[in-house]
Amino acid sequence: MKNLLALNWKMNKTPSEAQAWAEELQSKLALSESKLGDAELAIMAPAIDLQALSWFLKDSGVAIGGQDVSAHESGAYTGEISAAMLKDVGAKYAVVGHSERREYHNEDDAGVAAKAAQAQAGGLVPIVCVGEGLDVRERGEQVPYTLAQLRGSLAGVGADVVIAYEPVWAIGTGKTATAEDAEELAAAIRAELRTLYGESADSIQILYGGSVKPDNIASICAKPNVNGALVGGASLKVADVVGMNDALK
Ligand code: 13P
Repeated sequence: MKNLLALNWKMNKTPSEAQAWAEELQSKLALSESKLGDAELAIMAPAIDLQALSWFLKDSGVAIGGQDVSAHESGAYTGEISAAMLKDVGAKYAVVGHSERREYHNEDDAGVAAKAAQAQAGGLVPIVCVGEGLDVRERGEQVPYTLAQLRGSLAGVGADVVIAYEPVWAIGTGKTATAEDAEELAAAIRAELRTLYGESADSIQILYGGSVKPDNIASICAKPNVNGALVGGASLKVADVVGMNDALK
């Protein structure tokens, strides 16, 4: 299965900075040794940056996506962004249920599932995030915890989905899970997806996220059930992105 290198800029980069970044990426990728790799490259940007990215990455083969999407189709929901709006600006993906949204915006599994279903209804592929905190990991309960979160976050959601396993203790901390830790959860997630979706589960990409960098991405993505990465900090500099792209060749 093709790897997905999904970049999560979080709340970084103005539209002008996004434009400069896209132009720099294009010029670096144009160099022969840094062409797009075997992985699909996708940028999950602040919604306000997507128009600029859509324009400046036109015909580049780089996909774009939102970092969140409304659980509602349209209407009186001040401040929200609908799946149709993301789709119209050229987005392919929408991240839902990122641990930062779960923590700072009190999002629960049912709300995440509603967003994922709405993303699909609007023609987007949701990237559904799950993963345990440090307390759960220290109790050794990461597998049942994450699978319960997965089931709840996929209630009523179809198989056209990407899963991102992001252990909260590894996000932005420099503490990367080992490739074996990532594979333990990815394999458990795959088995759970089989019970939910049957054979379609074998074509669902499962990403790992948490302190992924150019020097660790290849070993993590070499694991049989890991099909790419969701990258925060190392997604901000073009040089790191080109490094990760090259590492997945
Ligand atoms: P870092 O790569 O900065 O650890 O962030 C991971 C993440 O949260 C991606 O969604």
